Amino acid sequence: MSIFLKVSGLEFAYGEVTVLRGLDLEIEEATIACVMGRNGVGKTTFLRNVVGLEQPSAGSVFMTDHELTRKDAHERAAMGIGYVPQGRQIFPLLTVEENLSVALEAVQNGVREIPQEVFETFPVLDQMRKRKGGDLSGGQQQQLAIARALVTQPKILVLDEPTEGIQPNVITQIGEIIKKLVDEKGMTILLVEQYVDFVRKYGTSFQVMNRGRFVAKGEVAELDESMVKKHLSI
Ligand SMILES: Nc1ncnc2c1ncn2[C@@H]1O[C@H](COP(=O)(O)OP(=O)(O)OP(=O)(O)O)[C@@H](O)[C@H]1O
Ligand SMILES: [Mg+2]
Repeated sequence: MSIFLKVSGLEFAYGEVTVLRGLDLEIEEATIACVMGRNGVGKTTFLRNVVGLEQPSAGSVFMTDHELTRKDAHERAAMGIGYVPQGRQIFPLLTVEENLSVALEAVQNGVREIPQEVFETFPVLDQMRKRKGGDLSGGQQQQLAIARALVTQPKILVLDEPTEGIQPNVITQIGEIIKKLVDEKGMTILLVEQYVDFVRKYGTSFQVMNRGRFVAKGEVAELDESMVKKHLSI
């Protein structure tokens, strides 16, 4: 197994307020790495530093042997990073098809058409191509947000709380899709998730964040009740 993404000593502050305090993370290729932690500890900020929407004040980010640290989000997307932000952030007034096309335009990596397999992965989006994003259910919007990240055929998919506010049956669908991307395409996944059952079912490794630090980590099989109680329960 080889390391696909490597973060070392990552620090970040919003102005004077330090949010990330020296984060190290290694993700093996074709595995699902899960970052957990209570509200406001810095999970989203960490992902934004990984995908290039924020620039760290110290530390580095490598994808295999390519250094990403000083590259912006567009460059990282073109190099193979797909991002599904928290809260989905699709365009409500654009149709499903237009939402997907916008992603193609934004990421100049040679993929020019929405790959048919995106619609095969999400049949519901195929049926709703002409529907406005804002008229979809929450679960459908989350699928659209994932599909939008997949149209450019990324090597690593970064997802911020994909199960937040979503019905159980769609949560299972999303979990199965992510698993399939790993098993069949060798994709690597980094996801932030507060839903412990989802991590247990689909995750490979986990990290628990607290106040900008990773305070526990391991293989998902080692994620026991005492750890959940100590670090995650409210
Ligand atoms: N744009 C911003 N400017 C200033 N402070 C911010 C900004 N975004 C987030 N913060 C602060 O940084 C800290 C970490 O926020 P972040 O959104 O990364 O946490 P999180 O773990 O993703 O939380 P949640 O579980 O609620 O999504 C919080 O104290 C938050 O208030
Ligand atoms: Mg967040």
